[in-house]
Amino acid sequence: MIKKVIEDALNQQLTREMYSSNLYLSMAGFYHSINLSGFANWMRVQAQEEMFHALKLFDYILDRGGKAKIGEISAPPSNWQTPLEAFEASYNHEQLVTGWINELADLAIKEGDHATHILMQWYITEQVEEEATVSDIVARLKLAGDNPSSLFLIDNELKSRTFNPPAA
Ligand code: FEO
Repeated sequence: MIKKVIEDALNQQLTREMYSSNLYLSMAGFYHSINLSGFANWMRVQAQEEMFHALKLFDYILDRGGKAKIGEISAPPSNWQTPLEAFEASYNHEQLVTGWINELADLAIKEGDHATHILMQWYITEQVEEEATVSDIVARLKLAGDNPSSLFLIDNELKSRTFNPPAA
């Protein structure tokens, strides 16, 4: 049986992952509105990944005999000034998520909850990958600057992203 303090913290993270999913879907809408369909596709797939992160926590809480509770989810922003600004916001958000995951791993150690600590290793690895991917796209957007053909090349590349559930 899961300790209440761990159950509450996991439910909080579950809700945050759902917010992340909404945030990226909102970004997908933004990119679509400025005719960058590759960026829109990338963000839409990212929204699916975030929902996968949420569902993994949902299933884990249930497997441990806990109660999954979805908390209040605030509305994400819906507009950004430039294609770069939205991706920078995404990078900042992922750094925030990494901090929350690290706090959860610390809590699992403090409470002697080895199973939750193992679960958190999966999220920690996932965060390394997410931060690296987003930071790479931010860097390329900075290099592209105001050059439409460079932006078009990146957009074209991001069109090919498809949702493949991350390895368990
Ligand atoms: Fe679920 Fe992007 O972290």
